[in-house]
Amino acid sequence: MCGIVGAIAGRQVQDILLEGLRRLEYRGYDSAGMAVLSDDGQLERRRAAGKVAALENALKEASLPGCLGIAHTRWATHGRPLERNAHPHMSGNKLAVVHNGIIENYESLKQELEAEGYAFTSDTDTEVIAHLVAREYDRCGDLLAAVEGVIARLDGAYALGVVHADEPQTLIGARKGSPLVVGVGIEEMFIGSDPLALLQVTDRFIYLEEGDIVRLTRKGAEIRNAGKAVEREITTFEHGDGAVSRGGYRHFMLKEIYEQAGVVSATLEGRLTENHVLTRSFGAAADTLFDQVDAIQIVACGTSYHAGMVARYWIEKLAGIPTQVEVASEYRYRDVVVPRNTLFVTLSQSGETADTLAALRFAQSQNKYLGTLAICNVPGSSLVRESELSLMTQAGPEIGVASTKAFTTQLVALLLLALALRHQRQGNDDVQANAVKALRHLPDVLKETLALDSAIETLSAAFAEKHHALFLGRGPQFPIALEGALKLKEISYIHAEAYPAGELKHGPLALVDSEMPVIAVAPNDELLEKLKSNLQEVRARGGELFVFADSRANISEGEGVHVMTLPQVDELVAPIIYTVPLQLLSYHVAVLKGTDVDQPRNLAKSVTVE
Ligand code: G6P
Repeated sequence: MCGIVGAIAGRQVQDILLEGLRRLEYRGYDSAGMAVLSDDGQLERRRAAGKVAALENALKEASLPGCLGIAHTRWATHGRPLERNAHPHMSGNKLAVVHNGIIENYESLKQELEAEGYAFTSDTDTEVIAHLVAREYDRCGDLLAAVEGVIARLDGAYALGVVHADEPQTLIGARKGSPLVVGVGIEEMFIGSDPLALLQVTDRFIYLEEGDIVRLTRKGAEIRNAGKAVEREITTFEHGDGAVSRGGYRHFMLKEIYEQAGVVSATLEGRLTENHVLTRSFGAAADTLFDQVDAIQIVACGTSYHAGMVARYWIEKLAGIPTQVEVASEYRYRDVVVPRNTLFVTLSQSGETADTLAALRFAQSQNKYLGTLAICNVPGSSLVRESELSLMTQAGPEIGVASTKAFTTQLVALLLLALALRHQRQGNDDVQANAVKALRHLPDVLKETLALDSAIETLSAAFAEKHHALFLGRGPQFPIALEGALKLKEISYIHAEAYPAGELKHGPLALVDSEMPVIAVAPNDELLEKLKSNLQEVRARGGELFVFADSRANISEGEGVHVMTLPQVDELVAPIIYTVPLQLLSYHVAVLKGTDVDQPRNLAKSVTVE
């Protein structure tokens, strides 16, 4: 993935670029760099391994004055996270490039360039772009034309920012497969991997489309696609810029966990009547389209995939529509048999995840689906723009790499989908009226659940020294157990697995001993008694149990059994509520272990590479 920011202005750009990088750190944070063209025509670069703060320190020692520059925060794909692999990459001392994505044919290009005498100083795929553009520029003397010529030879995915010392009035951007926006200022122009990176300088954006290449000067943008000039609309970003502060919380993750009651309300707003879900919330065409749906294919990655797994239980139960759920990286490379009238649904916080986006495009290219729906948190993202229908979750910007509020709002959106599909099929009924009531009550129950925070903090001490943990759930709580395990491994680096509790006896029971804490989610549902038997199996093997349970579950505390009682909640919305204590548990374990909670090692928030 990686984050890109660039600026051409009548003022100094170093601090604008630095602030942009801080805002883009969610895209990667293993090294950072910046190149700025000084007023006397010197293209200077600073780079540092580690987070943006390390670059900031390097700039304190030696700043980069000038009004044209590009910068980058990296998530390593090719080459270890060392300073020499950090972007920008340069060819000679006149051309600099920042790149997000992967160039698949870089090895053959590198051989070609090496044969011509170009020397490589990094292990990255990006450096070939720098040399190719420099070579092309020497031939044609025009940076836009040079970049245009080079990208025709690149296989893979990229967003690029390019500057050349001999064109001090030009900043070039290009996108194919990785996001890039243009920020429109007054007598100054910017590029960024997303609007958030530039909100400190403008709220007007051009969302570049696939294959676009743009020449920015201080006066404006010239955009070309497939060799022709094209016009792109300027849109105003209307979602505020309140996201980038921790607001008194120790970590973004904790702030975001606490925001869940509010953002769940926002996700419900305007989408419910007294007794049903408004199908129109999914777009004007949804009424007609939902009537025809005979099957659903959900595709997503990571936490969003777990939301999809819960949705399968809901959609089959409430709407009686057969539903498949698959991770995007598998789906996109499979010979998929598509049942008639299948709705293709993607789930994504960012709307830019490379595999999910590629899966959508693959599905569209097959021409076998009834329609496409994106459930997404970022308006204007590629996934939203390329899908026929969309429903926005209203989680607001999520900064912590481990997804929390984006997940619970996705669950809410998916329950709305299941209920809307049911309504299309059979009009109003009590099931929907009760579900609407439970949904409206959800923000209050979330607040009650958050009140368990300090008790969970106390509980977390039992995990800090452990190396493994096992999460159990049944029915729609199985994906919640998976999500609990994912959170724990992402931020505390404790190896965690999740199993449907009924599967315990088929293998994982062999691992259970006093060193393997077993966490179970036990709402008051039809599978409760079965789950309780599974928990007995754990106890009988000396496993220590941590059970998050409904007060009606009648699971008593005892030696080796810790019970945390959750508010009574309707069975249908229980997966949303039971997510919260697992988030808090991971959070507190990570804090105790002293890991980097918001930016765990080796991960990034938005994964725009395959
Ligand atoms: C990354 C993030 C996860 C996220 C996944 C899918 O791995 O670290 O938190 O669930 O990408 O992202 P998306 O934006 O498509 O939901």
